[in-house]
Amino acid sequence: MIRMLTLRPGPVEVGGVRLRNHLILAAGILGTTGASLARQLRNGAGGVVTKSIGPVPLPGHAGPCLIPYGNGVLNAMGLPNPSAGFVDELETVGHEPVVVSIFGGSPEEFAEVGSWFVGRARGLELNLSCPHAQGYGSALGSDPAMVEDCTRAVVRLGLPVWVKLTPNVTDITAIGRAAERGGASALVAINTVRAMRIATGLRRPVLGNRYGGLSGRAIFPIAVRCVYELRAACSLPIIGCGGVSTAEDVIEMMMAGASAVEIGSAVLEDPVVFDTIARELYADGGIEPAEIVGCAHV
Ligand SMILES: Cc1cc2nc3c(=O)[nH]c(=O)nc-3n(C[C@H](O)[C@H](O)[C@H](O)COP(=O)(O)O)c2cc1C
Repeated sequence: MIRMLTLRPGPVEVGGVRLRNHLILAAGILGTTGASLARQLRNGAGGVVTKSIGPVPLPGHAGPCLIPYGNGVLNAMGLPNPSAGFVDELETVGHEPVVVSIFGGSPEEFAEVGSWFVGRARGLELNLSCPHAQGYGSALGSDPAMVEDCTRAVVRLGLPVWVKLTPNVTDITAIGRAAERGGASALVAINTVRAMRIATGLRRPVLGNRYGGLSGRAIFPIAVRCVYELRAACSLPIIGCGGVSTAEDVIEMMMAGASAVEIGSAVLEDPVVFDTIARELYADGGIEPAEIVGCAHV
């Protein structure tokens, strides 16, 4: 049996943010309060991204909003969030590696929401990729000019800006390059894959919103492909996201070109998944992590 690679443990800087390790909580998964963010850090996450926060409070879509599907999860939450009401949640975790995910319907709205978190977060992640929120997310994130403008508007605030990309486009590298032109510090790939199911007994779509986004193990090969393409086309650090659930997945994402990974759906299955993965991934005699980033590009 070939033994899996192990990495040398220790902090790492990715996209202007110093992380305790390479494993980051993805946006929208249990990241709705300061207490839940702190819990994931205690459970071994090297950094955490919050639920996406927007310009006005939103209740989210009507249910059903979340259904398990085979090796994945189909969701159409509809970006429920308390808007500016979230700012106080960061009081207890402000000194930790917390990145705030934000969204808006225009560059101005992105900049306004981002401004609430200056001095309170280590970085901002732009949700230009949610596939099921009208006028937000991938509605803007499929247009390279809009991605460039939103990125530039938030970069002016002076915090590191990570731009999270949608896989639901013909050429993800065109979007990645637009974020790079706008001054992003890192790319995050990917958000969920647009999808739907029909309840055959009811002859109706299962999700309240009809369409949603697929996440979890089922999308891992799509995420690896996107990271690989971005690595070949852009020079920004990439944070791989989508279906990561084991230490071996982390190594594979890094070989495709990721400098770190975000983990979402796997946390819903195993609340201490960061510790579980870290125990297998890191060893004192492990190799220098940077050595394998992008090594699959020949
Ligand atoms: C229930 C749920 C809520 C999510 N909410 C957000 C969100 O608020 N903002 C965002 O950028 N991505 C959100 N996502 C997408 C995840 O951050 C991640 O990009 C996606 O699930 C793929 O990673 P995974 O397979 O590890 O879950 C959400 C995903 C799920 C399953």
